[in-house]
Amino acid sequence: MDLGLAGKVALVTGGSEGLGRATALALAREGCAVAICARRPEPLRRVAEEIAAAGGPVLAQPADVSRAAEVRALFAALRARFGGLDILVNNAGTSAAMPFEAADDETWQSDLDLKLFAAIRCIREAAPLLRARGGGRIINILNTGAKAPGARSLPTAATRAAGLALTKALSREYAGDNILVNAICIGLVRSGQWERRWEREGRPDTLDAWYARLAQERGVPLGRVAAAEELADLVLFLASERARYITGAAINFDGGLCPVW
Ligand SMILES: NC(=O)c1ccc[n+]([C@@H]2O[C@H](COP(=O)([O-])OP(=O)(O)OC[C@H]3O[C@@H](n4cnc5c(N)ncnc54)[C@H](OP(=O)(O)O)[C@@H]3O)[C@@H](O)[C@H]2O)c1
Repeated sequence: MDLGLAGKVALVTGGSEGLGRATALALAREGCAVAICARRPEPLRRVAEEIAAAGGPVLAQPADVSRAAEVRALFAALRARFGGLDILVNNAGTSAAMPFEAADDETWQSDLDLKLFAAIRCIREAAPLLRARGGGRIINILNTGAKAPGARSLPTAATRAAGLALTKALSREYAGDNILVNAICIGLVRSGQWERRWEREGRPDTLDAWYARLAQERGVPLGRVAAAEELADLVLFLASERARYITGAAINFDGGLCPVW
């Protein structure tokens, strides 16, 4: 199936690891020029080399997307390198889920800065660029807690619910510009943040066995944790011409875990 992505320019925030890395590489393999950002330069450089090896033009810009000035600098570098943008994937983030009384104002603020304000600022910068191309795609990576918040899921669940509202409102506001805005609500996907948890627990098992137990403990109906490459396939589809009638959707990518659709 031709996805019609060749020659497009994509930006994936948090592109140096996990879901972002898999997505950036998948977009490059489809012929996109790809920009990635993350805070740590070294993992970013390694992924830039992988993208270059996949044949794609690449921009790897160190940036903390929770800081407004760094988002502005990221987009200045993007405009200088590629001159425009077709696809924005707001992916950078990490989980912050704890008992409600354990989260102080600072914890709430940093979660909002990282996972809500980063998307707001990136979309504000991206929208004129997408409009100038006659349209484009915005894909917001959220989690299933956005739709079905559980106990001890804050502040993440509230931040992600705001991301859901942002997605729906902008899908309507930008429809006339042919800018399609969708969200993906993630359940459990293999990534750097899970591997770090496995390390913190002292590698109690092989990584595969640990993931199998995680899927069982969380009760994933499909019985396993997804690979990051499987998530990348969904991003490719939403970014592609094949998804040109889909906007304002929030798709669960969770092996059936979320109790609501
Ligand atoms: N994997 C899952 O099961 C799962 C479940 C639900 C939701 N998600 C969401 O999916 C997204 C990707 O997660 P992941 O599991 O792939 O995590 P990951 O393996 O830890 O990768 C996170 C990426 O984001 C970057 N990042 C983190 N903070 C950043 C910041 N302030 N500015 C710029 N880049 C930043 C990291 O690089 P640096 O650390 O160098 O900045 C890294 O490249 C996140 O939004 C996460 O909340 C994942």
